[in-house]
Order: sequence, then structure tokens, then C-alpha cells
Amino acid sequence: MKSIISTGAHRCKVIVETFGVGLGKFEAQRDSLTAGFRQTVESIKLAQDKGKVEIYLCERDLPALVAFGEIFSHIKEPYSFVIGQSLKGPLVQSIRSLPHLLISGATGGGKSVFFRSTMLSLLKSSPHIQLYLLDLKRGVEVKEFAELPNVKTAKDEEEATNILGALVDEMNRRYTILEKNGQKSIDPKRDKLDLIVVGIDEAAALFGRKTNESARKLIGELARLARAAGIHLVPSTQKPVKDAIDTETLDNLPGRMTFRMISSAASNVAMGGNLAKKLPAIKGRAMWTNGSDHQEIQAPYLDDEEMDIELNIIKEEFESGQRKNFQKMIDTQSEVNFEEMTE
Ligand SMILES: Nc1ncnc2c1ncn2[C@@H]1O[C@H](COP(=O)(O)OP(=O)(O)O)[C@@H](O)[C@H]1O
Ligand SMILES: [Mg+2]
Repeated sequence: MKSIISTGAHRCKVIVETFGVGLGKFEAQRDSLTAGFRQTVESIKLAQDKGKVEIYLCERDLPALVAFGEIFSHIKEPYSFVIGQSLKGPLVQSIRSLPHLLISGATGGGKSVFFRSTMLSLLKSSPHIQLYLLDLKRGVEVKEFAELPNVKTAKDEEEATNILGALVDEMNRRYTILEKNGQKSIDPKRDKLDLIVVGIDEAAALFGRKTNESARKLIGELARLARAAGIHLVPSTQKPVKDAIDTETLDNLPGRMTFRMISSAASNVAMGGNLAKKLPAIKGRAMWTNGSDHQEIQAPYLDDEEMDIELNIIKEEFESGQRKNFQKMIDTQSEVNFEEMTE
């Protein structure tokens, strides 16, 4: 039971029964309440009536367009990416503390744009990083990245599976290093190893198929273990249903960027509630979920021209020697030599 009382222009308070839930618990859910009401929660207080709390709300809407560069300027830590504009301000995130990110949402919502802005911000903010981009929809979404020396792309299932296999080997090699040095997780600077990010646009095209059990298993293994080895996954998919992603793998992807979903069921699988179904039909509008915390976000827009300029800057940094990786790119060819062997 709740009542809503206006407290001024664009402001109101909602009085709800607590059913024994303490004020602290409400405070802890402030971001989820903001997302649920689609208004900013300004404060939460105990009501004079026993067993009730007052939630003070302020109507404030997110902009419909946010520039990539504006959000990027808020990145202060290496190995970070932009999430977008939230009701509380610009939001950025370190991939190392995340450690894996799932992007989902119905077609046309902004997944690919967000995927590319995530990859670009990681490239820009990270001194030592390798990107492996798997895009089986003809490789069109990622082809601009391929010109960088620290990016490798896969355009078909075989290439993608080989890359995943080589990265699982690299992960195991890194675990041996960690064991030898008595360390818990890889620190790129200390261990002179590059951070590795595996981006998969339209992930269902890769492991949503029964035919590619090996890709599915390799991704599951990386999702489960790769964090300590400094390897992070960023899959993107329309619907994170069982056919497209193993339930266990899904559990290992704590960061969720969910664009508008058509059904509550799909929203539920993607972010553990129906908030992504309730989002307005605005391109780039999404729910950001990290654990149990939800926030409505306007994701940054990044057009092709800006991308090209940014990627060229990084390319020039490599050419002038200003940027250098710790390692060579992982050898992902070694498993495709069947033909050579039989010749
Ligand atoms: N953050 C954004 N802000 C504004 N417009 C966007 C944004 N993201 C996507 N769009 C628009 O929506 C279109 C579809 O986006 P896209 O990323 O290709 O969707 P999806 O991959 O989910 O199908 C883009 O071509 C672009 O015009
Ligand atoms: Mg897309």
C-alpha cells in the first residue's frame, strides 16, 4: 500500500509500508528505487506513522543524446570504459573490478554502438591492452579496429574458436605464473603482461548453435576463471536465453548493460527484473546493473567519424613508439594447420 503526495514543482513523496524492512535496507536500494520510479530518490526518511517510510522523489529526466567524449573525460583509472549518463551524473567503470560485461537488448536499441564505445574507451584508457573481437556477422561492426596492432578480429566460427582456445591456453599459462609468484591475480604493470579483453558482438551467432559446443565450453571456462588471469569478456546478444548463453556462464557475468527488451521474460533473464521492459523507446537508453544495483542510463553516442579519428590517434601512438605492449599478440593460428599437416 502506498500514497503519493506532491511536495512542490517536480517533487513528491511516496509513503510505503516497510513490512519490517529497516531504513538502511531502503537506503541500500536507492539506485534500484530511482530506476523503478524513474525519478531521482532525493532522500528516504522514517514516517511519523509507525511502520512506514517516506521516499522523496524528484522528476528529472535523462538527456536523449550524450556525447562519448564528454563521458570519457570522467575516466580516471586505466582499464576503464564509459557506461553513460545516469540520473546521478556521468558513469564510468573499471573492467578489472567488474570483471565481465554482458550487453543485451532487442534489435535497434544501441548494443553495437555501446559495444564499440566500450572497446574504444578500453583502448584509449589502457596503457597495455590486447583486444580480441569476435563478430560473426561478417565482421562489419569491428573492422575499423582491425588496423591496430593490439587488436585481432575473427570473422568466422573457426577463427573465433581458435582465438578462444588460444586464450584459454594463455589463461592457464598465466595461472602458472601466479602460482609461481604466489600472487592472486595478474597486475599488468607488475607482471609485464597485457590486459586481455574478448569482445563478442552478436554472441548468439557464435555459441547459440548446437554445432559449436567447443566455443560454448571455452567461453564458459573463460567466464569462470579468466578474471584472475587479467582476461575479461564482453559478449553482446539480443536475448541472453539458454540457447544463446549457458546459465552458469550468465551467472559469471556480473556487469549487465541491458537496452530495451520487448518482453518482461527477456528483461528478467538479462537483468533480474522487468526494468528493461519498462524503458522508454529512446535509442541508447539502457539499464546498468552491477550486482543488485540498477540505474537507468543514456549510453554515449559514438559515430563512425569520431571512431576513425580516435582509432587513428591510437595507431599513431603505436607507430611513434609512444605506446608499446608488454607481449606479442597471442598466437591463435597454431590450431588451424590441419591442411599443412596432411600435405
Ligand atoms: N547511445 C545512442 N544514442 C543515440 N542513438 C543511438 C545510440 N545507440 C544507437 N543509436 C542509434 O540506433 C541505431 C541502432 O543502434 P545499434 O547499436 O546498431 O543497435 P543494436 O546493435 O542493438 O541493434 C544506430 O544506428 C544509431 O542511429
Ligand atoms: Mg547490433
